Amino acid sequence: MYVENVIKTMELPETIKIFDTTLRDGEQTPGVAMTVDEKIRIAKKLDKIGVDKIEAGFPVSSEGEKEAAREILKLGLNAKICGLARPLKKDLDAAIGCGIDYIHIFIGTSPLHREFKLKMSKADILNKSVEAVEYVKDHGIIAEFSAEDATRTEFDYLKEVYLAVEDAGVDFVNVPDTVGVMIPASMKYLISKLENDLKVPISVHCHNDFGLAVANSLSAAEAGACQIHVAINGLGERAGNASLEEVVMALISIYGIKMNMKTELLVDTSELVSRITGVKMPPNKAIVGENAFAHEAGIHVHGVLQKAETYEPITPEIVGHTRRIVLGKHTGANAIRSKLDEYGIELDDEQFNRVFNQVKKLGDKGKCITDADLKSMSETILGRAKEEIVKLEGLSVMTGDNVMSTATVKLNINGKMSSVAKTGVGPVDAAINAIQSLVGETADIELKEYNIEAITGGTDALAEVFVIMGDNEGNRASGRSTLEDVVMASVEAVLDAINKILIVR
Ligand code: KIV
Ligand code: ZN
Repeated sequence: MYVENVIKTMELPETIKIFDTTLRDGEQTPGVAMTVDEKIRIAKKLDKIGVDKIEAGFPVSSEGEKEAAREILKLGLNAKICGLARPLKKDLDAAIGCGIDYIHIFIGTSPLHREFKLKMSKADILNKSVEAVEYVKDHGIIAEFSAEDATRTEFDYLKEVYLAVEDAGVDFVNVPDTVGVMIPASMKYLISKLENDLKVPISVHCHNDFGLAVANSLSAAEAGACQIHVAINGLGERAGNASLEEVVMALISIYGIKMNMKTELLVDTSELVSRITGVKMPPNKAIVGENAFAHEAGIHVHGVLQKAETYEPITPEIVGHTRRIVLGKHTGANAIRSKLDEYGIELDDEQFNRVFNQVKKLGDKGKCITDADLKSMSETILGRAKEEIVKLEGLSVMTGDNVMSTATVKLNINGKMSSVAKTGVGPVDAAINAIQSLVGETADIELKEYNIEAITGGTDALAEVFVIMGDNEGNRASGRSTLEDVVMASVEAVLDAINKILIVR
């Protein structure tokens, strides 16, 4: 309503090109380095999504970077494959030598970069930039030019440099907000002014130092920028770049811009990049986070179950996500009913109220209730809970200075006795290792989370152990126990969770 009215007044470009820099700026994320093979896997995914350009790396910086660019080129993707280069002959030759389609030339233009980093005059920077663009164009390659730190560069000089590279035949000029200091209004102002003076298409590259990279990129598009640099999961130097998934979904779903993209691959791609780079997404990350389509509050769940749009701006399927109803202290009766329906569990009113109260009680204790917990609670209340499948028949632990702890555990699994001795870094670890190894013959169940809290003070304090176990079929269950003996409490909690999983398998 409000957005549509405002958008009507804008002169938005018909479409926006997506320049993905996951493999270049994204790889500059502190602690991230990708092998050639990993870059190839990501490049294939980016191409499947439909990005227009893939910045494969900075060829002059290493043999691996050159190989990655060459190998990605060999894939024959639809996206243009770009390499980064300073306006130096060795950088440009390194990129040209890879057979690359597209070269992204950059040089700092702000007073800080001129004085402290480059120690070059304005005129020298301008001349170098022009020479580099001419060199690239002489090789018949697409040239994009970035005035690094453009957003802290004096406007007149910035314009002079961009006009000079335009005259030299550059295909795109890019405006990097290198340290993320712009706000949407200033970005709109700067891009509009440049749009007035330049004929060449304008691109933006926003960093997220103040969490404004996506907003600033969209604002640039509102002012006429027709290309946005992005990275999957918002990876990049320091706080990262504008995130591809957020920019693309905002352009499509809010601005109504037509983009030929397979957005249903976004979650998959985000997960691939996360696995490869080791950078995990926070659960509340927009579009691709685990909670992006999860609902807990009773009022919300009720609304979503009636009509998803009440609390979802887009459907999860559009981005390859799934809706999740989470049970916790804010859960309402509707959410629990819908979960029980999903599992085909029928409870009468009295039984339902008992389950509902248990969920609330656990929620108030700060616990979240997994699907296996809910199923097991209901089974117990229905009196259908099977006998404990796994029972502890014996436990002894040996521990001491400078030696690994050893635990010998005897279990009755489905009536069959078995025992094993396992070591661990401490008695709890050893006991859990032994249980997992015995249960492993029946089901592959692993410890996912372990928490311990002392409830009372003193050496005989009551310890409350809370664990989450999970199996290879995606079942998860929590287990808890409160005892004075930490090892026994841990063992009981683990067995509690294992039994819940085995009951629902
Ligand atoms: O942030 C930046 O300025 C860059 C340039 C190389 C464009 O990444
Ligand atoms: Zn950057």
